[in-house]
Amino acid sequence: DRIAIIGCGSATPTPVMTNDDLAHLVDTSDEWIRTRTGIGQRHLASPEISLSDLCAQAASEAMKMAGLTASEIDLIILATSTPDDLFGSAARVQHLLGASNAVAFDLTAACSGFVFALVTAAQFIRTGVYRRVLVIGADVLSRWVDWSDRTTCVLFGDGAGAVVCQGTAEEDRLLGFELYSDGQQHDSLNLAYEGQEKSLKDGLRISQGTYQPITMNGREVYRFAVAKVPEVIEKALFRANLSTDDIDWLILHQANQRIIDAVAQRLKIPSEKVIANLEEYGNTSAASIPLALDEAVRSGKIKNGDIIATSGFGAGLTWGAAIFRW
Ligand code: ACO
Repeated sequence: DRIAIIGCGSATPTPVMTNDDLAHLVDTSDEWIRTRTGIGQRHLASPEISLSDLCAQAASEAMKMAGLTASEIDLIILATSTPDDLFGSAARVQHLLGASNAVAFDLTAACSGFVFALVTAAQFIRTGVYRRVLVIGADVLSRWVDWSDRTTCVLFGDGAGAVVCQGTAEEDRLLGFELYSDGQQHDSLNLAYEGQEKSLKDGLRISQGTYQPITMNGREVYRFAVAKVPEVIEKALFRANLSTDDIDWLILHQANQRIIDAVAQRLKIPSEKVIANLEEYGNTSAASIPLALDEAVRSGKIKNGDIIATSGFGAGLTWGAAIFRW
């Protein structure tokens, strides 16, 4: 089968933390955050909201746009690094949706998660194994940020975004993609497990602990993104037999306005074609691309037939690009 993306949706929690609010928590300012990142505020999930709740909300919107009911979904891929349960949250989302005919699993690729999941979904559709696939990108990084660390806590927000992909006999709308990983740079961005030794018996020690708040080498991540993202988009365009002039919209992972601007500049893509909403939401990790896509579609910016270049990049390190027609 060929691939069509037939619906999108998103969900963000209501409570908002502005830059000024943050200045009461750590030594920072609205001016510093805006000029370095472009972020003005972020939406944060209250304790009673689960990641699965946000996913189900975003997915419901996407299914509604696609004109599908939950029982018609064959596969759910949930890209997240912050599941409600380390065993996975996709099955819980399946249950919340009532998508009883769908198999569901989590996929972890940090901020590249949505692009990796979209490409994974496409393989199942192309081989004819599954026809209707829900791809969700969602994260609640507020649960894993050190709120006393000004170098990271100002960057992240919570949210979920989803798309519905469907097998079709018509034009294949996933035009090209490229995915990469580089574990050598693993230490530049982490949400790492840390444990303490525990001895169970003579000569047998295990580790017990939990995950520690996000640590990041901001400058390294910045350098990596500005170097690799233009390159991966060009490679994906090459596979699609397209050039940068063919791109109607550029939707990058919303990490930092300066990264977005630098990538657009390097690719010579004019700012009118660049979609950005991180001023409102901050960096929502795996959710950022489908969240920005959904807003642009619902506002009427993105129209049927438009060519969209997306690129996700982040921890792993991982990065990738997908070019598709809306
Ligand atoms: N408020 C005020 N001052 C701050 C803050 C803050 N929130 N954070 C850092 N500073 C200070 C630093 O302590 C430093 O002070 P010093 O010079 O006295 O030591 C100074 O500001 C400059 O710090 P730098 O880290 O050099 O600032 P830089 O210009 O590199 O900007 C930033 C930092 C915004 C994090 C930048 O490096 C960046 O955007 N990197 C990419 C990070 C990113 O996007 N990560 C996520 C992408 S991947 C993913 O989404 C998971």
